[in-house]
Amino acid sequence: MVANYPSGLNKSVDQFALEATGHDNERRQTLRDLHAGLMGQIPTSVWNKTSAMLFADRITLSRLMYFNDRYKEIVGTTGVICEFGTLYGGTLSTLINLRGMYEPYNYLRRIVGFDTFSGFTDDLSDVERESGLHAGGYATPSGYERELERVLAAHEQNSPISHLRKFELVKGDVTETFDTWLEVNPSAVISMAIFDMDAYAPTKHVLERILERMPKGSLLCFDELNYPNFPGETVAVREVLGLHNLRLRHDPNNTTMSWCVVE
Ligand SMILES: C[S@@+](CC[C@H](N)C(=O)[O-])C[C@H]1O[C@@H](n2cnc3c(N)ncnc32)[C@H](O)[C@@H]1O
Repeated sequence: MVANYPSGLNKSVDQFALEATGHDNERRQTLRDLHAGLMGQIPTSVWNKTSAMLFADRITLSRLMYFNDRYKEIVGTTGVICEFGTLYGGTLSTLINLRGMYEPYNYLRRIVGFDTFSGFTDDLSDVERESGLHAGGYATPSGYERELERVLAAHEQNSPISHLRKFELVKGDVTETFDTWLEVNPSAVISMAIFDMDAYAPTKHVLERILERMPKGSLLCFDELNYPNFPGETVAVREVLGLHNLRLRHDPNNTTMSWCVVE
């Protein structure tokens, strides 16, 4: 079959999410509608967490289990966790709770989330624009980072040493904020770096600086490798790390996600 470029690439991100990842497909929407309709009728405080468990679907559970598996891999390593591209903070919340379960007294396992909170910057390649990425895509509501801080603090309260703040949100374009963060955190060792910014320029910028802080045994996690509609992440990894240097692993329940151990 003859490839028909770029017609397969020029869908909007939302369209792609609908068609390719199934994240917002009809079956999930049915669950959301049922959830919204029943919210007032199901007590949120019941012992077996009915509301969350009743409506967490296969894709949500797969992502939770993926981070559970990755977290178990870093228990016993030194360092903080950085997530690049946090959006509404679903992964940060998960990580904070996993820390509370697996190493509740490791107050040096700080969890740091980087995001513009205003979506993609304008620094996008032509290919990325053709794929549907645009400045402002994935923007959260104005001031959302303050709400997220409250949510994350509430999660932190449910685990030991809750009087110590062990997470940080860094707002801004990582091509500006990450260098400063490295400078003001000269002691930071990074044991897990999660790349989920979808775009080439910020991913490359961070990759070029982060390895020096990552000892052997730490994890590099990628959300969009080998993903045609978000080519930037793969290109950045090819240019900075070289695919042939990585022993990439893949979890069949999380199609777009890959990870490797720094060797
Ligand atoms: C796919 S979303 C992240 C999803 C998130 N990891 C989660 O688990 O829900 C991509 C995020 O990358 C952020 N982003 C894109 N370019 C960025 C940049 N240059 N600096 C900081 N964040 C950026 C966007 O604002 C967006 O929130």
